[in-house]
Amino acid sequence: MKFIFTIFTNCFKNKIPEDYTIEKKTKNDVLDKIVSLAKRRGFVFQSSEIYGGLNGCWDYGPLGVELLKNIKEEWWKSMTYKDNIEGLDASILMHPRVWEASGHVENFTDPMIDCKQCKARFRLDTFSDLISEMKQNKAIESLKEKIKDNEELFTLTNDILKNFENPLESLIEDPKLGTFLLVELNCPHCGSKNTFTSARKFNLMFKTFIGPVEDSGAVVYLRPETAQGIFVNFLNVQGSARQKLPFGIAQIGKAFRNEINTKNFLFRTREFEQMEMQFFIKPVDDEKWFNYWKTERLNWFISLGMNSDKLRYHDHPKNKLAHYAKQATDIEYKFSFGWGEIEGIHNRTNFDLSRHEEYSGKSMKYFDDDSNEKFIPYIIETSAGASRSFMAFLIDAYYEEQVNNEMRSVLKFHPKLAPIKAAVLPLVNKDGMPEIAKNIEKDLRKNLKIFYDNKGAIGRRYRRQDEAGTPYCITIDTQTLQDQTVTIRERDSMAQIRISMDKILFHLLERINNNQD
Ligand code: GAP
Repeated sequence: MKFIFTIFTNCFKNKIPEDYTIEKKTKNDVLDKIVSLAKRRGFVFQSSEIYGGLNGCWDYGPLGVELLKNIKEEWWKSMTYKDNIEGLDASILMHPRVWEASGHVENFTDPMIDCKQCKARFRLDTFSDLISEMKQNKAIESLKEKIKDNEELFTLTNDILKNFENPLESLIEDPKLGTFLLVELNCPHCGSKNTFTSARKFNLMFKTFIGPVEDSGAVVYLRPETAQGIFVNFLNVQGSARQKLPFGIAQIGKAFRNEINTKNFLFRTREFEQMEMQFFIKPVDDEKWFNYWKTERLNWFISLGMNSDKLRYHDHPKNKLAHYAKQATDIEYKFSFGWGEIEGIHNRTNFDLSRHEEYSGKSMKYFDDDSNEKFIPYIIETSAGASRSFMAFLIDAYYEEQVNNEMRSVLKFHPKLAPIKAAVLPLVNKDGMPEIAKNIEKDLRKNLKIFYDNKGAIGRRYRRQDEAGTPYCITIDTQTLQDQTVTIRERDSMAQIRISMDKILFHLLERINNNQD
């Protein structure tokens, strides 16, 4: 769906120089455009591109690294600038027992099948997306025909068909039914029939070895989530920071998952960053804090400019909860390829701390001196992907607009997230304008990420900054030489105001921090 509307904004109570309409792209081609813009403008590059790339891994370029840093910084401030949330930076490599206690060694698996002909590998939970409904139904009918005389299998099949959202996945996962069903299906990649292996569990953790000997005693994992570093440090942080319940521990860091299918740009990658906060509470308060963090986290995305009509909650049904969760909600963003999770909020109960107590033999209990009780706290987790949020903020900010019969691409980032806060542009390269502009640039650089550009027509320079998402352009022109004023052009409305040179920094900081435009 696309919509076009005319903007009447005049936030600066000054002239709007160009008559324009906005066209927000919401079609599938948006992702291709974003990937291409991300490369062209230096937001994101394919990892190891000159060697043909490495699947599921991406590099952040000069603008991307700023945007990512700003997202993380805003998250960090929103969490740890509170008196009851502490920060932590735990190591990526942890004792291997951590992952046994957490359940990752046993449960962090995706069932998958391989095609023996073309070697393509498929995750079962998304396999049915690759096969038409008609072919699925036909294969299921053949399965039923084959097992009609076996009462046990026939009942099991009917139960699965009645109770499961994705019955094909569950039927294939069952060893007996899977064998009968898979022979009826063609490989979505090469088209061959009867070439699938039976379903196998594939652990998503990357393994490596600590020390010089590569044997089983030296195995360690690259952490698949940052959360466990927080759990094992719960009492260290609580004691050293002298915190009382309820309190939280926040951490930003890399996580690694050997995803079978990476797809949709930064959405599912093998190396990514998480922004996780674990909030330790009394068990009786779990409902209250779960709802509190649900609201807080959705509002955080909106406060940084994300369109609220592109955000929604997705509550997990009881039968789909992760092994550690009592209650779970995803915050989803409406990408061009459909709704996708950008953050999960989970009631993890006392599962993690109890398991670490059991596996380490060390008490993980908290002593509550108000009630004189010792107990293992419950945890409400907020777990956001920094890289996935990056992608959502990037897509959400992207607009194409008709301005004076020309198309402009613009990234309407919230000024706090914008990689470059302001561009300094001398109108012409003479009459002392570049010298004044250079002084302004030097002065602003002490506080803000600034870009200096003196090449090309001014309209073109504005467009280049629009595409990079720069919220303000400062132009030094003939009038500057007479009265020491400059124009400041605001990216979204394209309105310009004149202000005195000595007020530029104050003006920008006020707008970036309060976002008055
Ligand atoms: N500690 C809980 C946990 O890790 P999760 O739902 O598996 O929960 C949390 O992950 C967030 O991490 C997701 O909402 C998503 O934003 C991000 N994430 C997970 N897997 C990812 C991947 N392969 N690529 C990019 N981001 C990912």
